[in-house]
Amino acid sequence: MDKLRITGGRPLEGAVRISGAKNAALPVMAATLLAPGVHTLRNVPRLRDTQTFARVLEILGAKIAVDGDLMTIDTQGVNAVEAPYDLVKTMRASIYVLAPLLARFGQSRVSLPGGCAWGPRPVNLHLAGLQAMGAKLEIEHGYIVGRGVKLKGASFGFDVVSVGATVQLMMAAVLAEGTTVLENVALEPDVTALGEVLLACGARIEGLGSRRLVIHGVAGLRPVDATIIPDRIEAATFAAAAAMTGGSIRLERVIPDHFEAALLKLEEAGCTVRRAADSVAVAGPARPRAVDVVTQPFPGFPTDMQAQMIAVCAVASGTSVIEDTIYLDRFTHVPELARLGANIELKGNVAVVKGVSRLSGAQVMATDLRASACLVIAALAAEGETVIDRIYHLDRGYEALETKLAALGATVQRVN
Ligand code: EPZ
Repeated sequence: MDKLRITGGRPLEGAVRISGAKNAALPVMAATLLAPGVHTLRNVPRLRDTQTFARVLEILGAKIAVDGDLMTIDTQGVNAVEAPYDLVKTMRASIYVLAPLLARFGQSRVSLPGGCAWGPRPVNLHLAGLQAMGAKLEIEHGYIVGRGVKLKGASFGFDVVSVGATVQLMMAAVLAEGTTVLENVALEPDVTALGEVLLACGARIEGLGSRRLVIHGVAGLRPVDATIIPDRIEAATFAAAAAMTGGSIRLERVIPDHFEAALLKLEEAGCTVRRAADSVAVAGPARPRAVDVVTQPFPGFPTDMQAQMIAVCAVASGTSVIEDTIYLDRFTHVPELARLGANIELKGNVAVVKGVSRLSGAQVMATDLRASACLVIAALAAEGETVIDRIYHLDRGYEALETKLAALGATVQRVN
């Protein structure tokens, strides 16, 4: 099992090219099932999760070729409708194949995703929305089974803002009979980017970027040549690393608006941030100031940066209060940060972080994707050596992280 060995204490300096967004690539990969033919996707990040999703599509009969960050997906030959448990359990987003398979074949058998490191991840909104559109879904032996489904346009409101459920229902609606109105949809850039890809395939969608989408079903869609948007969470993670190490880095090939809430919070913590069209320069202070954070759906502060922000606050001057309103138990990184000397008191979904002047290196364990990233940036600021175990979690969502960090001057080595 791979580990990362990091010696902290050096400020990060230099430029880093941010990869394509995991959370934008996965929905677009699923959407290729809607349009038989050869799709060309560019700026696709090389991650465990994109590789897992490619395997799911191949099991369904798609032909996939990868050349660097170029991925071609031929969905002409898709002839199966089952997404098996052993793949879905490793990546929840596999459930994104449900709607496209129902839309194209009228049937589907997709394993219910399990939980994840920090607790249950319900899919009730996915199912309720599809049922509102006429899908008769049964749960059989841990699988969501749809048979003889002809999706029809419907009006559906999300009582909780959900990225995945919004993506799922957009893909159900574009080929449904009639018009679908979706209220209170997620506004994450990954969702808007999927909408733009669907429009390029010939879908008819009004209201992209607003909380209300009106989607007129069409008879068929054509394959697309699309470029995946940059990963705003990877970019914000590097910005947090600069904040922690007093470094000065330039994030290249980013869309600053996509992580403005994180940039504003880092400025509040004392960082100097300079935004350009497709790059952002971030210089960390000698020591960050304490800040309070409440995670919200986009455009609010993203839950996927909650762990990284706790790491920054762990070395800040003062006490920070960090609340996650999206996932109430996404704090498995807190006990691991405590091993590095952080002083954090957890009260339900609120972390009270009393900044310490220095963290000190230790052996720690990654528990999920963003918790791993939090431990990496904490290790970069800690005195001495930190060894992070189980970094396969990190490989799910960060492409060549140790290579990028080393290029910024970090002392980091992957060992197994
Ligand atoms: C997406 O997950 C992201 N994953 C997550 O990123 C991210 O944390 C999350 O959105 C929130 O921004 C991908 O895009 C692949 P949700 P998703 O549905 O779609 C509740 C990462 O680190 N909910 O927006 O699964 C849910 O419990 C990952 O890259 C229901 O109640 O999240 C949560 O409280 C981790 N019923 C809230 O909605 C449902 O049917 C938001 O979840 C669905 C969700």
